[in-house]
Amino acid sequence: MDKMWAGRFQKAAAPEADDFNSSIAFDSRMYRQDIQGSMAHAAMLAAQGVIGQAESEHIIDGLSSILEDIDSGALEIDMGAEDIHMFVESTLTQRIGDDGKKLHTARSRNDQVALDLRLYLREEAGEVVALLKKLIAAVVKCAEENQDAIMPGYTHLQRAQPITFAQHLLAYAMMFMRDVGRVRDAAARMNYSPLGSCALAGTTYAIDRQMVAERLGFDGITLNSIDGVSDRDFCVELMSAFALIMAHLSRFAEEVILWSSWEFKFVELDDAYTTGSSIMPQKKNSDMAELVRGKTGRVYGDLVAMLTVLKGLPLAYNKDMQEDKEAVFDSLDTVKHCLGIFTPMIATMTPLKDNMYAAAQKGFINATDLADYLTKRGMPFRTAYKTVGQIVAYAMSHGKVLETMTLAEYKTFSDLFEGDLYEEISLSACVRKRISAGGTGPASVQAQIKAVKEFLQQ
Ligand code: ARG
Repeated sequence: MDKMWAGRFQKAAAPEADDFNSSIAFDSRMYRQDIQGSMAHAAMLAAQGVIGQAESEHIIDGLSSILEDIDSGALEIDMGAEDIHMFVESTLTQRIGDDGKKLHTARSRNDQVALDLRLYLREEAGEVVALLKKLIAAVVKCAEENQDAIMPGYTHLQRAQPITFAQHLLAYAMMFMRDVGRVRDAAARMNYSPLGSCALAGTTYAIDRQMVAERLGFDGITLNSIDGVSDRDFCVELMSAFALIMAHLSRFAEEVILWSSWEFKFVELDDAYTTGSSIMPQKKNSDMAELVRGKTGRVYGDLVAMLTVLKGLPLAYNKDMQEDKEAVFDSLDTVKHCLGIFTPMIATMTPLKDNMYAAAQKGFINATDLADYLTKRGMPFRTAYKTVGQIVAYAMSHGKVLETMTLAEYKTFSDLFEGDLYEEISLSACVRKRISAGGTGPASVQAQIKAVKEFLQQ
């Protein structure tokens, strides 16, 4: 096929240069957006008298037949084409003849690709939000069912204070809710049409960019033609949001992996989301969670690749920018893939409350509450803290925990101790008494569940 731009050249590009230059293998997924953009452009050109009404209709009919045929599989996208824009335009001209050659009036591939990518990613951002909401729904359901499941909360991966499994899970709900906000923000900021920026300087035709923008559901137009074709901030923003989603998924994945180990056994993953070993018959591995953790690196890498493409790139369009798509699509696909597998994995996971509770009984995680007991009876917190430290050391050296020390033993450390201390340091009391807003106490957990559910309605 002769190149559309062949006029200026004495000979054809070397086949390997053609291959190197071609982006169709990865930009063909934008065929729908490319065609929709072209339809809006053709309608506008006629409305502005740049091309005839009949020509415009001819073009639009031709484009919709192409869309239909690609959708149905009747038309196969030619992987030998330079990119999806060239493929659609040349197919149009093959189908409808010379009228097809008028479509590219007052347009360049530079604004065209910027438009297509915004349209594509805007739609996909909606998909990612929907997937995030499904995950949040699964997390909050599990939280709701496990408000009474007491487990150790950790700092430094050392048992720290008693919490509920619900409180722990809700921390992840908060992260994913912020992720939804970030993806929505990025989608809103990208929702401006660059079409009509043309190659870089705008055009001599009296085009109506606003009309195109409205037809395509944009909130407005980009205000500077050079920025219109050279901006890929919207990719970076979306990919940053994706990188954070992966950060959250990988933290969650890591905990699921730990929790499924024999050492913890806080949860049992459903067989459907685990794998066995080729040699060790007893094994049940949390491969899905591990893969999610591993794929996080790819999504970070994609973000860094995109930022690096843009670094120091002079205005306006440079072919370097064709590298945007593989990075942004890989990061998008990976995030969708991971969210798609993570949600059912969480939804089918069985929390093992007894094991959580047993772990909470070891490790002196009610020591803070014992210090609070003394503080509420008049001892300054720092003194109480030190006293309890000595009590813990004593208990450890006598093979005891706080619950099994006698009152007489306690009295040797402070006269403030009375028989009611045992109730005060019981694990359920420790949780129940955490009444501060956002804490692990039942009212706070219920308020969080309510807030998350309200968020899911939006
Ligand atoms: N395939 C190109 C890309 O993805 C389309 C824009 C080409 N523009 C150009 N001036 N060569 O960036």
